[in-house]
Amino acid sequence: MTAMTNPQTDTATPATPDVLISSRHLTKIYPTRDGRGVRALDDVSFDVRDGEFISIVGRSGCGKSTLLKILSGLLDHTRGDITLNGRPIDGPDPDIGVVFQSPTLLPWLTITQNVLFPNKIRRNITPAVRERAQSLLATVGLDGFGDRYPKELSGGMQQRAGIVRALVQDPELLLMDEPFGALDAMTREQMNLEVLRIWEESRKTIIFVTHSIVESVFLSDRVFVMTPRPGRLAEVVDIDLPRPRTLDMINSDAFGSYSGWIRKLLEAEGDF
Ligand SMILES: Nc1ncnc2c1ncn2[C@@H]1O[C@H](COP(=O)(O)OP(=O)(O)OP(=O)(O)O)[C@@H](O)[C@H]1O
Ligand SMILES: [Mg+2]
Repeated sequence: MTAMTNPQTDTATPATPDVLISSRHLTKIYPTRDGRGVRALDDVSFDVRDGEFISIVGRSGCGKSTLLKILSGLLDHTRGDITLNGRPIDGPDPDIGVVFQSPTLLPWLTITQNVLFPNKIRRNITPAVRERAQSLLATVGLDGFGDRYPKELSGGMQQRAGIVRALVQDPELLLMDEPFGALDAMTREQMNLEVLRIWEESRKTIIFVTHSIVESVFLSDRVFVMTPRPGRLAEVVDIDLPRPRTLDMINSDAFGSYSGWIRKLLEAEGDF
């Protein structure tokens, strides 16, 4: 039932034309005062195809956020190669949008000003950009909230505004680091459906970090399972469930097999 690929053997496969991200032997060692360093990622190799939905699961401290920060261009790596569209990732790029665990909205700006903030920094707020922001806010159910301030919105609404801020720039790649960790279970389910809808409409590539096995299976084409620190790719699990995904699929046998398998892999790698 579960098609497996070994990421370490995959490295021998030449890149195919639809590969968006390619990571080869990616290693990150954080410098420490005692000079020994913290090895957060060790020899991580994978490809992500254009338009794929990938989730990353692994126990706390295994390097998930480190990997996302390197992909976003916010953090240097120590060894190996990582490319987007064949070009090395070596700094923040408007083609890459990032959504963090907390929405990180600026409290003194309205919702509209917040979602336009990256464009303001780049001095490219055009009427088309404003229109896009407005239509995206409407898409995620925030029509009419553009002039409100973050504190006037619930946690889920703020997180949706954070997603809009990342999407306004129309990035090719959307990186999401535990974006729904702080939300209650029902809001989280709604947000999962929302993300899938946006992904299906826009055909972006999404890399999504989560601690929830169910969330990873529900959303993804493939789930990357990482080992504890130093983070390596333990397995890549292909999720062969039909799309569009619906919440009732969570109760199906196939869904249960996938989540059971991923749980087993994580247990084999230590506590989750
Ligand atoms: N700036 C830093 N300096 C030194 N070590 C760091 C730094 N940032 C992260 N680390 C270490 O690197 C390892 C990986 O951290 P990272 O934040 O990537 O983990 P994570 O998988 O995102 O964990 P969590 O699930 O708790 O968010 C951890 O051991 C952490 O202590
Ligand atoms: Mg993290």
